[in-house]
Amino acid sequence: MANVRLESMKKAYGTIEILRNIDLTIDHGEFVVFVGPSGSGKSRLLRMIGGLEPISGGRLFIDNELVNDIDAADRNLGMVFQSYALYPHMTVRENLAFPLRMAKASKAEIAAKIAK
Ligand SMILES: Nc1ncnc2c1ncn2[C@@H]1O[C@H](COP(=O)(O)OP(=O)(O)O)[C@@H](O)[C@H]1O
Ligand SMILES: [Mg+2]
Repeated sequence: MANVRLESMKKAYGTIEILRNIDLTIDHGEFVVFVGPSGSGKSRLLRMIGGLEPISGGRLFIDNELVNDIDAADRNLGMVFQSYALYPHMTVRENLAFPLRMAKASKAEIAAKIAK
């Protein structure tokens, strides 16, 4: 089971509030989509849930645990980014090999997968 709960979540940059008092409960297995015009705060909300941006106010719970101050890597969430990020200092081949290397694949395995 996994659930996500937002209580009065806020995002502000200095004195400018861009998200105010967002309350939302997402139950296990629910499919939720944020829809709104460009600049309405969809990405800031997702980034706060993912732990990529500090939460300015309110509380965020994942599995009923308060995670406001938990690092992104420790929230046990998966993410797919809107723009795919490639490492600019690596070649295309090195970019493809990198996640395989991190997963401790052998050199032969990496070479075989990249050649496909
Ligand atoms: N670093 C920042 N400083 C000040 N305002 C920002 C910053 N990042 C985003 N904003 C403002 O926050 C609002 C919401 O942005 P965003 O979440 O990216 O919108 P969306 O994803 O819905 O297009 C926008 O109006 C944007 O101008
Ligand atoms: Mg966006």
